[in-house]
This record gives sequence, C-alpha cells and structure tokens, in this order.
Amino acid sequence: MVIECIDVYHRYEIPGDEWALAGIDLKIEQGEKVTIAGPAGSGKTTLLQLLDALMPPTRGDILYDGLSIHSLARQKRLPSVRRRMGVLFQFPEEQFFQETAYDELTFALRNFFGPGEVEIEQRAFAVTSGFNLDLERLKTTSPFSLSSGEKRKLALASALMMDPEILMLDEPTAGLDASGRRELLRIISSLKDTTVIIVTHNQEDFFGLTERIVGIAQGRKVFDGNKAELLAGIDLLESYHIKAPLVLQVFRWLRSAGAEVDGMPDDMEALIHSLAAALKRADHD
Ligand SMILES: Nc1ncnc2c1ncn2[C@@H]1O[C@H](COP(=O)(O)OP(=O)(O)OP(=O)(O)O)[C@@H](O)[C@H]1O
Ligand SMILES: [Mg+2]
Repeated sequence: MVIECIDVYHRYEIPGDEWALAGIDLKIEQGEKVTIAGPAGSGKTTLLQLLDALMPPTRGDILYDGLSIHSLARQKRLPSVRRRMGVLFQFPEEQFFQETAYDELTFALRNFFGPGEVEIEQRAFAVTSGFNLDLERLKTTSPFSLSSGEKRKLALASALMMDPEILMLDEPTAGLDASGRRELLRIISSLKDTTVIIVTHNQEDFFGLTERIVGIAQGRKVFDGNKAELLAGIDLLESYHIKAPLVLQVFRWLRSAGAEVDGMPDDMEALIHSLAAALKRADHD
C-alpha cells in the first residue's frame, strides 16, 4: 500500500497549543524502509499515529493507495485500511488489553478473520518461532508481567500475526540490551516486501536496514533523503539537533582526513573493514 501525506497539519485539542505537525508532505511506496528521526517532542509519534489512521489530521490529507483518509472515514472503511498496517507503540504495554500474552498475540487474527484455533496456533507458532518466545508460557502469563524486552517482542509478534503490508515501529529498541536489539533487527531485516517505518532517536541501530531517512524538527519535515544525501546533510541535520549515525560521522571524518575508505558502511564493523583495506592498499603503494 502506498501512503501519502499531503500538506498535513496536526494540533492536539489543547487551547493555545502549537501545531504538533505542520506542512508535512511525504509519500512512502510499498516495501520502502524509512527511518524517521528527530529530537524529543518534534512530532514523530504524532506522525506515526496519523499514518496509522489512529486519528485524522487537523488539516491536509493522507492517502492510502490514493484514497483520502477523510472519505474513508466517512464511508467507515478505515478499519479495513488499518488492518493492513501493524504498529509497535513507543510504550508497548499501552497496547495490551488481554488477560494472557497468548490472547494478546492472537486477538486481532481471531477477531478480524476468525479462523479456527488450530490455524491460529499454527500462525502464532510460525510468527514467534524466530522470537525466542515460548507459546505455552504465553498462554498462562499476563502480558503485563513480561520483561520489557519480551513485551516489545510480544507487541511486534502481535503486529506481524496479521502479515501487515506496512509495519510502523516507534522507538523499537528503547530499553533493550545489545542482544535484544540484535534479535529485533534480525526480525525486521527479514521483512523484505513489507514497508517498514521506524521512528527513533537512535539512527545507529537501524542504519544498515534503512534506505531513506526523514528528519522532523518542531513538527516540520526538514530532511528527506537516502544515505548519500544524509552524508551531505550531516551539518544541516545537526542544526536541527538531529544527530547523524556515528558511523556516518566517522566515515565523513576519515574521508576528509584523506583515507580512501570506499562504499557506504552499514555499521562500524563494515567501516573498520574498509579502513583496514585502505591502509593495506596504502602500504602496498
Ligand atoms: N496526546 C497528546 N495531547 C496533547 N499534546 C500532545 C499529545 N501527544 C503529543 N503532544 C504534543 O505534540 C508534540 C509532539 O509530540 P510527539 O509525541 O509526537 O513527539 P515525539 O517526537 O514522538 O517525541 P519523543 O521523542 O519524546 O517521543 C509535543 O509538543 C507534545 O507535547
Ligand atoms: Mg514519540
């Protein structure tokens, strides 16, 4: 599904409040991997909630495969659009409301599509197999008593149960340790055809996976480009208090210091490899 924001403005209904988002134009094609970066309070979560059709924008339009959110709402067709999208909220416990973690995992599938229990369990097994979550334990455990990493995994698995065309993740690695982060990244990287929209303070985690970076500051889109454009835009982003990934900063620094590191490194390890190769070449000369 293609999502397009057209001159979107949003204001929460608090008298005197400023625009949380202003003049956002953004088109995301099916299968794109997009990181949305911006300082605290810049409007990232608001944008995600609008994209997910949880609330309509105060002004402007959002198109889903060309259909306006306003007319879809009038025709009561938003639930069928929302069903094609999965969301992992910034605070996953806010999206839990079932008694057991297993019911949480299977709720949407059971309620929207109503397949038999055997089919539901098969799907639950398939989705959680790479997650290191024990289904039998989930059947007897409250979602609220899971560890914070497990809560995040449960919320992500719940979103994936419906095989969404678009997955939106709000700060998915916040509070996770290194192995939790790796596990989550591995799962997200495996979603080849799914559109993935990641909101994060920490671009570092997702740099390898991202093809496009959108910068938001004070409710406005201040950057929209690929990694090469991000490299050229590091200073611009800094001026909006958006830090480019460290690997990109070091890459730029090495190049300006004359090191012949080539390619765009996905992470520090890749950068160190290409630096080692450059040093070896220099040694031979
Ligand atoms: N439910 C709400 N009611 C009123 N104002 C809100 C609400 N949610 C967000 N805001 C305001 O909208 C603006 C943007 O908030 P938002 O949560 O979208 O930012 P964010 O970029 O996600 O921040 P963070 O990085 O801290 O999660 C802020 O000024 C915030 O105070
Ligand atoms: Mg937020």
